[in-house]
Amino acid sequence: MEETVGRGLEDVVVAESDICFIDGHEGRLLYRGYNVDDLAREATYEEVAYLLWHGHLPKSAELKAFTEAIGKEAFLPPDVLAFLAGVPAGATPMEVLRTAVSMLSLSDPTSEHVGDQTDRTKALRLLAKTPSIVAAFDRLRNHQKPVMPRPDFGLAKNFLYMLHGEPPVDEDAHILDVCLILHADHEFNASTFAARVTAGTLSDMYSAITSAIGTLKGPLHGGANEQVMRMLLEIGAEDKVESWIKDALANKKKISGFGHRVYRTEDPRARHLRAFSEEIGTRRGDLKYFRMTQKVEQTVFAEKGIYLNVDLYSGSVYYQMGIAIDLFTPIFAIARTAGWTTHVMEQLAHNRLIRPRAQYVGPERELWVPIEKR
Ligand code: CMC
Repeated sequence: MEETVGRGLEDVVVAESDICFIDGHEGRLLYRGYNVDDLAREATYEEVAYLLWHGHLPKSAELKAFTEAIGKEAFLPPDVLAFLAGVPAGATPMEVLRTAVSMLSLSDPTSEHVGDQTDRTKALRLLAKTPSIVAAFDRLRNHQKPVMPRPDFGLAKNFLYMLHGEPPVDEDAHILDVCLILHADHEFNASTFAARVTAGTLSDMYSAITSAIGTLKGPLHGGANEQVMRMLLEIGAEDKVESWIKDALANKKKISGFGHRVYRTEDPRARHLRAFSEEIGTRRGDLKYFRMTQKVEQTVFAEKGIYLNVDLYSGSVYYQMGIAIDLFTPIFAIARTAGWTTHVMEQLAHNRLIRPRAQYVGPERELWVPIEKR
């Protein structure tokens, strides 16, 4: 065996894929060949999910049927609703989402079918039901009744409706829709890779997405958007940003919302989120969080030359929409369900077990010592 160690699998190519392309030097992101900037400007999240799954953009009738199918699937099975109502106090939404998504397999008689047309149906179920899980849990923990989904709303608008109990203003629904597009896929990131590893054993779609959610949860991955907002609240004011950041960096702390394994320039998704943070702040007549985030961005770049990533401005975008901080990563999961499920289907279409090796550095000649002599 060749004795090289690629720590964190940096720059290791593990498969061919025609789903997503990242140019880390130019800061370009493509889904199925379409630039994410164009998709953010022109498409809806449903259109992007369709594109990811089918490899081509839907015609109007296809998009209408697809959007309706998502709307019809948004209702939750009784066992999942009962679980959400009985979750112990203090459970985090990502733990709850991970568990509830795993539970969805129990009410699917085809859950153990792998690599056939039922995978598409499962992908649709997952895409449609994750927003309902997150919204229902948030209402139940706040002693409110879950709001039934409105099949006539798009996914983003429906999520905000189920969360807040009233239809959102069009601007917020649009911004969330674009946020979902921007987070829909990102090549072989850690959670997608986890999903593919699980799928590669010929386990089922629900197991693969459960693995992915558990992986996304970490603060080095999707959990960073929550950490950014907690940091802004801790700093408290724009004029305190510079000294707070300098102090944190002097203490070797990593600043959430910065750095990336692939991008060596600005993350193309960040541009849209920066503009949204400013837009919502302007609309609400308070640019405090936008300005603070901007100052954080400037200070980290001046001090370390490190670029922001997708998580920096998404924090203040969701916060200003009145969304609880611990729902930020679940929103990332809702969006990424489109990408995860696409990758599971691609993995199964060309499957080979994913099983790397370790370079063994432990002892080789230990002699057995009976228990009474240790
Ligand atoms: N703050 C301060 N220094 C940083 C940061 C940061 N956010 N990110 C990287 N660095 C420094 C790091 O200390 C190291 O410096 P040195 O070589 O002097 O030790 C150098 O940059 C390389 O960093 P690394 O940690 O070896 O890079 P990595 O590719 O292993 O990690 C990362 C990538 C995203 C985990 C890391 O940049 C990080 O921890 N960022 C903060 C968490 C975050 O924002 N995560 C979201 C990632 S993007 C979206 C997503 O996946 O969810």
